[in-house]
Amino acid sequence: MKKLFSEFNIKNVKMKNRICIPPMVVGFSNDGSVIPENVERYKKLAQGGAGLIIQEATCVNIDGKLSEKQLGIWADDQIEGLKKIVDAVHEENCPIFIQIHHAGVVGISENPLCPSDYEYKNLTKTVVGHEMTIEDIKCIQNDFIEAARRAYKAGYDGVELHGCHGYLICQFFNKRVNKRTDEYGTNPEKFVIEILDGIRKITPKEFVVGIRLGGFEPTIEDGVHYAKVLERNGIDFLDISYGFGSEQEMNVPEGYKYSNAVYAAERIKEEVSVPVFAVNGIYSAETAEEIVRERDVDMVDIGRGALINPNWANDAKESKDTGKCLSCAKCMWFGQSKVCAGKVIFDRNNEI
Ligand SMILES: Cc1cc2nc3c(=O)[nH]c(=O)nc-3n(C[C@H](O)[C@H](O)[C@H](O)COP(=O)(O)O)c2cc1C
Repeated sequence: MKKLFSEFNIKNVKMKNRICIPPMVVGFSNDGSVIPENVERYKKLAQGGAGLIIQEATCVNIDGKLSEKQLGIWADDQIEGLKKIVDAVHEENCPIFIQIHHAGVVGISENPLCPSDYEYKNLTKTVVGHEMTIEDIKCIQNDFIEAARRAYKAGYDGVELHGCHGYLICQFFNKRVNKRTDEYGTNPEKFVIEILDGIRKITPKEFVVGIRLGGFEPTIEDGVHYAKVLERNGIDFLDISYGFGSEQEMNVPEGYKYSNAVYAAERIKEEVSVPVFAVNGIYSAETAEEIVRERDVDMVDIGRGALINPNWANDAKESKDTGKCLSCAKCMWFGQSKVCAGKVIFDRNNEI
């Protein structure tokens, strides 16, 4: 586990190992503000020994929410609550970034926005996203910039722009969703680069600004292209995951050993020098070590593993059982954590 447990820095942010707990909305908040359960959850995760925590998708604008109980960073009076999370995590000697997010057409708004008109079907309904005006674009870019200002004020070590999994920034990147004919369509990265520039103007240069980017947007070639453009424009790290659900072409070599998202991270890392994070289905310490060592990515995200066992990194370091997601989907992405079969087995084996 030599590389997995080696130190790593992004700017002045020091991480004691290469394990990152990626953003995971588990939904406790009623009005977007932090409640004690949020603070306790992050404290426990920080005690678990990971090198970095990225706080769950936290919304920049009340109309951009992905779920009713999502945390918010759209108002100054939310800073105090967010600071409690930051302080609790820092007390455990762990840095924390916050993922800032707007859902666009993939949210709960009755009248959602999208870069261009788009019909989005999910399991229960079809919604139509309406093309954003230039004024809408400027407003939402400003919401992201203001959210980063609040994040800096609350003491976060950095922000991660949520640019994947179908949400608004991802909707701009994916040309099958973004059919605009102006510069925000012909040059789809313009939306996010202007946000990045805006954040740089109002935060000190050591403040970390990264992005969670879809590797297939819609193809890996697009993912590599956007990664290079963002690197040229000063992004501090690239956390590579999936892009816009049905609008991706995941051409991955047959028999590739890890998940498609890890493949995308590996490919992107070959083309950039900024730190790259890999994610998805990294269930054991051995696999995590193999991925950072042989695939040359800088950090690995352990998501569901940390939901099952918040002490994942400490246990991995001591070669203990870390627990495992069984991919049974009973939990509905952990919405029903009590029926998580992996957690039940882990807790029973470890008498928790
Ligand atoms: C309950 C839950 C909530 C999630 N919320 C977010 C989120 O807020 N932002 C995000 O980018 N990804 C989110 N994800 C995706 C995870 O960050 C991660 O990419 C995914 O679980 C795959 O990694 P894993 O196989 O280690 O779990 C969520 C996943 C889960 C299980």
